[in-house]
This record gives sequence, C-alpha cells and structure tokens, in this order.
Amino acid sequence: MSTLIEVPAGLAGVAVADTAIGDVRGSEGFYHYRGVDATELARTNSLEQVWALLLDGDVGSAEGPKDFASRLRSDRLLPDPLPPLLAAIAAGSAGDDALNLLRTAVSAAGTTLALRPLWDGSEDTRRRDVVQVAALMPTLLAALHRLGNGQDLVPPRDDLGHVAHYLYVLRGEPAPEAHVDALSRYLISTVDHGFNASTFTARVVASTGADAAATMVAGIAALSGPLHGGAPSRVVQMLDDIGSIQGADQWLADTLERGDRLMGFGHAVYRGRDPRSELLRETVLGLVDTADDRGRALVELAVAVEQKALAALAERRPDRPLMTNVEFYAGVLMDVVGLPRELFSATFAVARAIGWSAHVLEQTRDRKIVRPAARYVGPQPSATAVS
Ligand code: ACO
Repeated sequence: MSTLIEVPAGLAGVAVADTAIGDVRGSEGFYHYRGVDATELARTNSLEQVWALLLDGDVGSAEGPKDFASRLRSDRLLPDPLPPLLAAIAAGSAGDDALNLLRTAVSAAGTTLALRPLWDGSEDTRRRDVVQVAALMPTLLAALHRLGNGQDLVPPRDDLGHVAHYLYVLRGEPAPEAHVDALSRYLISTVDHGFNASTFTARVVASTGADAAATMVAGIAALSGPLHGGAPSRVVQMLDDIGSIQGADQWLADTLERGDRLMGFGHAVYRGRDPRSELLRETVLGLVDTADDRGRALVELAVAVEQKALAALAERRPDRPLMTNVEFYAGVLMDVVGLPRELFSATFAVARAIGWSAHVLEQTRDRKIVRPAARYVGPQPSATAVS
C-alpha cells in the first residue's frame, strides 16, 4: 500500500500550486493582484486594464491596450447559432437563478465555438480561448435575462467598455456613468481572491487539458453552491425584511437569538475588516446623489443596519470578530445600479471568470494533471473476490 500524506479537512492551509496572479493576506486585511493592492486597482483602473494585469502582469497587456480592448469587443459578440439556443435555455428555466442558466449557456457556447482542448493548443490559442469565453459571459447573461422576459436582444455596440456594454445590452440603453463606474469597481474587486473553491475547480479541469468552456462551466458550478457564490441577494432580502431603521435592533436581536446568521458579516479568511467591504461602502455612498428615492432609502438603511449589526455581533460574540464582508455592500451596489436581483450571483461569476481565465492559463503551463488520492475506508475485498 502506498503511503498517503495527511492534509486538513477541506485542504485548509494546504498550498496545492504556485501562482503569480494574486494573494490574500487575511490577518492583514489585504489582498492584491500581481503585487498591486486590488482595492486601489478598482479605484483607479478599468476592468480591461485589470484583466490584462492578471493575464500578462501589465495593465497595458502583452498585445497592447488598444488591441486587447478591441479583442474583447469582438469576443463578446454572440456567435450566430447561439441566440436560438439561448432562447431555449431561458424558456426552459423553472427557477429564477440566472447562474444556472449561465452555466448551461457557457457550455452551449463552447460547443458553438468548436473550442479545441487546451492541451492541444499553443499559449496563444489557449489565451485566445479563455479570454473569449470569459468575455462572452456578460453578453450571454444579458441575453438570457432579456429572452426570459420576452424582450428582444439588444444589438451590440463597439464604442463601449466592457462594463458599460454589459449594462447596455441588459437594459437596451446606455447606463449613467456613475453606475458604470460603481459596477466596474465591484467587478474589479472580485475578479480574484486567492485559491477559492471555484478557482481551484477551474484549475483542476484545466489540468486535464479540457477546453476553455469546460473550465469556466466547472468554475460556475463550484460558485453556484451556497457556501461560495452568493449572499448579495440574501443581503438585500435581509434589508427588505428589516424594513426600517426603527425595527432593525429588534430584528437583529431576534435573528441572532434564533441562532441564524446575519448575511454579509463574517469571513473564512479575514478576521478583521474585509478590504472589499470598505471599498464598496465608499462606492455605494458615492452613488447616493444620483440614486432614485428607493436607492437612497436602501443605502441609508444599509449604512444604519451595518452599524447596528456590528454592535450586536460584538456584544454576542466578543470571542470571535465578525465584521462586514464583501457581500453586504455588493448586494446594495448592484441593486442601486439597477441590476435585477436574480442576476447578482451570475454577475459575480462574470467577474470571477476573468480571474479564472488567468488561472486556467497559468495552470496549463504546467503539463501535470491534478490527481490527488483518497483513503479507502470501506470494507476490504474478500479473498474470493480478489482471487
Ligand atoms: N452572523 C452570526 N453569527 C455568525 C456569522 C454571522 N454572519 N458568521 C459566523 N457566525 C458565528 C457562527 O455561527 C459560529 O458560531 P459557533 O462558534 O457558535 O458555531 C462562529 O461565528 C464561527 O462561524 P464559522 O462558520 O466557523 O466561520 P467561518 O469563518 O468558517 O465562516 C462565513 C465564514 C461562512 C462567511 C460565515 O461568517 C457566514 O456564514 N456569514 C454569513 C453569510 C455570508 O455573509 N456569506 C458571504 C461570505 S463572503 C464570500 O463568500 C465572498
């Protein structure tokens, strides 16, 4: 019998790969992309620049910033055979979570694009394929949403950046600049975050040499689980349930008394502040001037509930720092910029797919399949069965 190496449950703290893409320093409340503070990148750079940084280590991109932006503009166009397939996927949906529809649509897109296994491609073709699939995702999502609501597809425009284009093909009209900037900050701040479950999953599939769409479908599948992908819509639901600042203390006390969790608080890695929550709080506050009455009321309620929730958590759990996490203001931000709630988790996937594209590319440079072992704990084979 070969000797097995013991690892902690869930591989917690086990380094399973080398990466030069980014890192999370939980105890410092800090994370970065290729050595640059990620929240600072979100404040000062476009999504295209940050994508290039993740792929190539340079905001200017290896192929030049103009060429990269222009590549994204053509990559995000729906290939001809896709719209009828998307209409069928949207029509066949029995639920309201767009993430599952997106997973199916990315798989269909991979077939339509006739992608070849990454194993067979050169560095250039692998890069082209992963970027194309990730660039297509916002268009797929917007199309699924519109078709599911009986609306026509919006013809693409080539004069808009990636984030503005997502909002445009979703709504059919250009979004206010403040909304584009705010959503851009959210997307940039969530493109990558260490070796999370979906990034690891996408890399495992990449290590088998499968095609780019297969790696992204796997990433989405991992992200779709409730432990990973998505509290933002639950945060907005919680704020709806709380209803008013006056009722917040009682609602929070009752919820904690029942042993339920407050959505948007606590984090598996950060013990102090989650730097993304501060960035998004600042961004949401910057939206107040241009928000409608409903949006303003939501921001006001969120800010008040955050303070009350932090106080309630500190009182009940003095042993365990439970601070605001990224999801608290992510939900508020997406709501204020007008994204339908059922698109929140899928919009997170649109961001994370950019990180997956860089990770998949990095993984494929190492031609080694990820193939761990398991300890067999079932009954031993009987002598007769083995003979
Ligand atoms: N509200 C109330 N109590 C909480 C909360 C919370 N939000 N978070 C943790 N606790 C309590 C737990 O009940 C547990 O109590 P116990 O020791 O009496 O059992 C203790 O704090 C530790 O909880 P764990 O689940 O072990 O903490 P962990 O760090 O592994 O979990 C997690 C992190 C899953 C994010 C958790 O804090 C949580 O469920 N938060 C609410 C959901 C949420 O906001 N999810 C989004 C996370 S951000 C992201 O995924 C990108």
